[in-house]
Order: sequence, then C-alpha cells, then structure tokens
Amino acid sequence: MPHVPNLLERLYILRANRAPGAIYDLLGGGTVKSVALAAEFGVFDALAEGPATAGALAGRLDADEDSLAMLCRFLARAGYLTRDGDTYALSDLSDRWMVGDPGLVDWFTFWDSVVYPFWDANAATVLRTGEPDQSVYEWLDDHPDRWPTAQRGFEAVAKLALDPTLDNVDVTGRSHLVDLGGGHGRYSIGACQANPDLEATVVDSPVALDVARENAAAAGLSDRLHTIGGDLLADDIGSGYDLGFAFNVVHGFTPDENRRLFERAADAMDPGGTLVVMDQFEGAGPIATARAMNDFIGFTYRVLLGGRVYRFEQVEAWLRDAGFADVERIDLRRAPGVTLVTGTLPG
Ligand SMILES: C[S@@+](CC[C@H](N)C(=O)[O-])C[C@H]1O[C@@H](n2cnc3c(N)ncnc32)[C@H](O)[C@@H]1O
Repeated sequence: MPHVPNLLERLYILRANRAPGAIYDLLGGGTVKSVALAAEFGVFDALAEGPATAGALAGRLDADEDSLAMLCRFLARAGYLTRDGDTYALSDLSDRWMVGDPGLVDWFTFWDSVVYPFWDANAATVLRTGEPDQSVYEWLDDHPDRWPTAQRGFEAVAKLALDPTLDNVDVTGRSHLVDLGGGHGRYSIGACQANPDLEATVVDSPVALDVARENAAAAGLSDRLHTIGGDLLADDIGSGYDLGFAFNVVHGFTPDENRRLFERAADAMDPGGTLVVMDQFEGAGPIATARAMNDFIGFTYRVLLGGRVYRFEQVEAWLRDAGFADVERIDLRRAPGVTLVTGTLPG
C-alpha cells in the first residue's frame, strides 16, 4: 500500500516542496521488492494460518530471525502486516490481495522476477534505440523456467478482469472461440464455463501453453479447450471460429503486425464472427490512477516488447481494414483502464 503522508507531511513536503517528495517513490519501490521477497519466502501464506512472531516465522520459513523481523516491521509500516508488540498478522489488504483468490501476489512475483530484471538489462538500450535487443517473450524462451511465472502473472490480472469482461461479451450461441495469445487460457476457460456448448482454442507460443493445459485440466475442460503452439503472425491458427479474443497482444505488435493479426483472424473466422480486442489505450481511464498506470504500462511495453499503448482510433481502423464492421468500444468500469473493442464480420 502506498505510504500515505499525513496532512502536515502533505502540506510541508508535497505542497510547500520544503522536503523531497520523491522519497515516497523510493518507499514505493522498496515496498514492491519487500512484498515480492516476503511472498517468495511464504510470509503471507504462513501468517494466513494465524499471527506469529518473527522468531516463530523464521523457524518455519528457513529465514534469519533478525532480518525477517526487520522485513516484517517495514511491511507493517507499509500496510501489508499489522503489528502487536513482536507479533505480526496479515492486514486486511494482505488478507484480501496477497493470500485471497483472485489476488495480486503472482502479479508482484512476475514484476519482480521477469519485468524488472528485463528492464534493468534493456531499458537504456530502448531509450537509445527505441526497442530492446530481444523481446521479453524471446527472453522467456531462453529462460523457459520463467514462462510459468509470466503466465501466472498475466493470469492474476485476468482473474480480476474476467467477470467484467464476460459481463460485456455475450458468448451465448457461439460454438468455437479462438483465443489469440491466450497464454494461461483463463479467459477461454471462463467463456467455456459461461457457455457449455463452446469449445476454445488457445493459440500462443508452444512453451507458454503449459499453464493453459494445466488450468484446463483443473477446470475439467481438457476436452473443450484445445491449444495450438505457434507464431500468431506466421503459423496456422486454425479456422471455423465464430468468436475471437485478442487480449493484451496488440500493445506488443507494430501497426503493420496488428493489421496482419486482424486479417489472419478474419480469415480464420466464419461470416458473422466477432473479434474482441482487449488492451489499454492512450489517455483512457476514468480516474487519474488508471491514466497514470496506462502511461507507465505504455513505457513498460516499450521496454519489454518495443511496443506501446495505442489510440482506440488506430485499433478501430485496423479492424475495419481487415473487414470487421460494427466496431464498438467498451471501457470496463469494474477494471478501470481496460478497454474492449468488438468488431463483427458481415454475415
Ligand atoms: C500479455 S500476454 C496476454 C495473455 C492473455 N491474453 C491475457 O490477456 O491475459 C500476451 C500473450 O501473447 C503471446 N504472444 C505474443 N506474441 C505472440 C506471437 N507472435 N505468437 C504467439 N503468441 C504470442 C505471449 O506469449 C503471451 O502469452
């Protein structure tokens, strides 16, 4: 939780600029690292079983007692734990978001062990040249042990956006969904659960699909969720679909690649088929936090993929050029900053 300055601090530090307000960002960065480390060691899961002292936790988690006590003390200041003397417990925030499901712990782990290491190695090159030497997906292919971490991170966000998405995308009456860059398969699984007659095919790079198959098996949907491992822009993506998802993929492609993606989707879909695009868009977001997040995410896409957040009008034009009509924009109120764009092939 961001450190919230009291009124006096806000007036003196932020309004009057008498001390460096940037210190709050340093605290925020430290909090991300500390939360990820605590999650890695199982601090939140251990405290979900009940309050404990750092000494008791250290024995269970194979940690140095004094160091763990210092970490817990800071996490209590940051709002992730509560402290009563030497005893720590989960705060309401951690109880809901660090051990609850859907939660954010896998998202923190993804940032800590994929995004930031990649950022450290590539951000300066990107700022100089406009793109990384390799995309984060190519880097993950070189570090396949981190692919599940990435997919579990994407999935953590997908679990939060799933219900708002399905509230706005009618899957009834559809028979075969293609989930382009569907990774973990969570959106396909949700769609299949909402429509028992629906089959789904998740297309993604081969190694990324392990999590989708695990999730499908856990949901009892292995017979209705299929996978195609390959390059969305070059390999066979199947055919005969009447519904398509392209969720959080356009930000990683160039405009020409997005045109090709939508043309390939149109070719793979039957007349009357609907393609749903999900992404973040430049300037979109009903609240300042969502707009700031989209600007930060946009630069992160540049660092990770040479990508960007696009304007809605660009995505709309690519869809129309590929033959999709009735293009509509839906800004998800319950997932601020996330936008759906739907387009339908003439019947
Ligand atoms: C940010 S993740 C989004 C996953 C999921 N659609 C979601 O919204 O949670 C982007 C996915 O697209 C896949 N992807 C990106 N470029 C691809 C390409 N050229 N071919 C196949 N998959 C690709 C990545 O492997 C990754 O799983």
